[in-house]
Amino acid sequence: MKAAYITQIGGPEVITYGELPDPKPTRRQCLIQVGAVDVNPIDLYIRSGAIQAKLSFPFILGRDLAGTVKEVGASVKGFKVGDRVWGTNQGTDGRPGTFAEWAAVDERWLNLTPPTVSDEEMAALSLVAVTAHIGLVHYGNVKPGDVLFVNGGSGGVGSSVVQMAKILGARVIATAGSDAKAEICRQLGADLAINYQTEDVDAAIKAFAPKGVNVWWESLREPNFERTIPLLASRGRMLIMAGRDARPTFPVGPFYVKECSLHGFAMFNASARDQRSAANAINRWLSEGKLKARIDRVLPLSESAEAHRLQEQSTIQKSGALAGKIVLKP
Ligand SMILES: NC(=O)c1ccc[n+]([C@@H]2O[C@H](COP(=O)([O-])OP(=O)(O)OC[C@H]3O[C@@H](n4cnc5c(N)ncnc54)[C@H](OP(=O)(O)O)[C@@H]3O)[C@@H](O)[C@H]2O)c1
Repeated sequence: MKAAYITQIGGPEVITYGELPDPKPTRRQCLIQVGAVDVNPIDLYIRSGAIQAKLSFPFILGRDLAGTVKEVGASVKGFKVGDRVWGTNQGTDGRPGTFAEWAAVDERWLNLTPPTVSDEEMAALSLVAVTAHIGLVHYGNVKPGDVLFVNGGSGGVGSSVVQMAKILGARVIATAGSDAKAEICRQLGADLAINYQTEDVDAAIKAFAPKGVNVWWESLREPNFERTIPLLASRGRMLIMAGRDARPTFPVGPFYVKECSLHGFAMFNASARDQRSAANAINRWLSEGKLKARIDRVLPLSESAEAHRLQEQSTIQKSGALAGKIVLKP
């Protein structure tokens, strides 16, 4: 099969698009003809060595996939040949990645794709939507009437956070780096979209939520607690999910007197069972037309190296080139 893989860590140029042996499904695995995959920032960290992962080379990149089951192992119970499926959290813990024409995936990581949703949309949502669900429901405990703030509402994770927070009944404030992206945030459901390049973000938050923000979703890798804790409401919850190297100062006084809490989390730690429960909600909301993928562009899988370059410029170097996900098609 054709696959995008690496044989060493390094820049995007270490990505090879070439032939690898077809995978053979074990008893609990489904063999999937991959319809679409997408790029996540964690793919960049693994490829570059920024995260020291145990990799066995050749290592196929990619966390997410959507496609069609073509063969099932003898013990597979939940899926049959012809089912359209999606999954995330591959390419870790010894599981190969997804950037290939075929993938053999344990059924516990798979979910049915709703009939009205394309493979491109499903791949674009998978990791980011599961992340948003785990953060908002498990850690954020978002309730109707809460004010939720998210930095980067048109980004990969942010676009799912905006939509899901609205579904859960929150009033949503999102930031964006341009007027066009602020408009995308409004279309996704944000009640207030602030252009962080041209507007006073803190003043806009205070005007919208005089009692403060109940749930603060920080998607930046450099959280600024000096700034954000004063903007939290009493018993406000702050979620952090990025910034392995960040060592910001933490204003203890303003934090504890308001009885705030801070939750860090990484979606890859969630068990297959917890991810399935997030996936069930995602599928329900997709079927009801309440949740939509935010796709920036679709490229052929052969352009994986270019896709990594673009994602790196946008997420790490903050070029702002992307508004949502890069989807790749084998
Ligand atoms: N812990 C987990 O489970 C988990 C899961 C997924 C991702 N992550 C991490 O979360 C981070 C975001 O991932 P992603 O996929 O959403 O990346 P992304 O699609 O590149 O989104 C990044 C967002 O940050 C916004 N942004 C950049 N500079 C900003 C600024 N100065 N002020 C406000 N917003 C700003 C961007 O907004 P503009 O484009 O409008 O500038 C964009 O919406 C990455 O570091 C990733 O590794 C963690």
